[in-house]
Amino acid sequence: MEIIRALEFVDGKLKFIDQTKLPLKEEFVVTDNYERIAEAIEKLEIRGAPAIGIAAAYALTLAIRNNNTPAIFYNAYDRIFRTRPTAVNLFYALSEMKNIFELNKNSNEVYELLLVHANKIHQSDENMCNAMAKNGLEIFKKKSRVLTHCNTGALATGGNGTALNVIRYAFEKGMVDFVYADETRPLLQGSRLTAWELNKYGIPFSINTDSTAAVLMKQGKVDLVITGSDRIAVNGDAANKIGTYNLAVLCCYHKIPFYVAAPTTTIDKNSPNGDSINIELRNKKELTNFGTLQITCDDYDVYNPAFDVTPNHLIHGIITEKALHKPPYDFRNV
Ligand code: MRU
Repeated sequence: MEIIRALEFVDGKLKFIDQTKLPLKEEFVVTDNYERIAEAIEKLEIRGAPAIGIAAAYALTLAIRNNNTPAIFYNAYDRIFRTRPTAVNLFYALSEMKNIFELNKNSNEVYELLLVHANKIHQSDENMCNAMAKNGLEIFKKKSRVLTHCNTGALATGGNGTALNVIRYAFEKGMVDFVYADETRPLLQGSRLTAWELNKYGIPFSINTDSTAAVLMKQGKVDLVITGSDRIAVNGDAANKIGTYNLAVLCCYHKIPFYVAAPTTTIDKNSPNGDSINIELRNKKELTNFGTLQITCDDYDVYNPAFDVTPNHLIHGIITEKALHKPPYDFRNV
């Protein structure tokens, strides 16, 4: 199967695919400028919780390549910290990089040491993706029709993905018949990015509006739903792309199992439950405009949260690189 990599560190530069252009254009950006990477995270050229963390680690490394003073490092740290608030992977990566910097700030090799650590975060994410796929196979009791939301594939991680990689691996093992990809309003990560990946992998799929999920379930066309997560609280409440909670409620009504797949770097040990998760509110233009086309009046009020929180009792299982965790969830020591 085709291998896709959203990010690569090559010859002292970060190379990433500009996800805002997919699937119509496959354009890569190559940069050694941390500010450009911070912008890419804000604009969702780089997106998906694990990929954001990895990009942040490389960005901080690049920030001090030519001048490794604490002032430059902390300035870049603060800038990247403010890019997106929900994916906890970002904050884990920043905090690990800060520790490495503080331990080595007087060394001539601080850049090299930061790069080694950024590579380690990247490699470890790739390994976790593979382990999640294997642990997730257990949820397929028969050849299944799966519905998913947003994009949780290679584009969202440093490896082959979280939920979408569970689906892809199960497909390789003959356990996936068909995938329904929610288009994922407003930025269409499903109809643009998940569809692009599924097409490359040769997995049969169709795209549907988010509001079609209920009808598909009523028609008996969905055997299970799997999504990713941007932050999982200690009690298993899981923040993910807006619309995920709707799906979990629909699954409960239709008696369809709802699963979440995420690496343990998405678990926030400081969030006892979903109420303490910081949910990103995005620009009103994402709703008043469709791309560059204005579709409604600028002066209308808009509520545009990028994520919602699915309560733990609606989640049948949470797949991490360590195990398929079953309720009741307690991630204090995972
Ligand atoms: O706003 P995005 O596109 O960064 O949101 C991404 C998601 O919601 C994904 O489901 C989540 O990050 C898990 S990705 C492996």
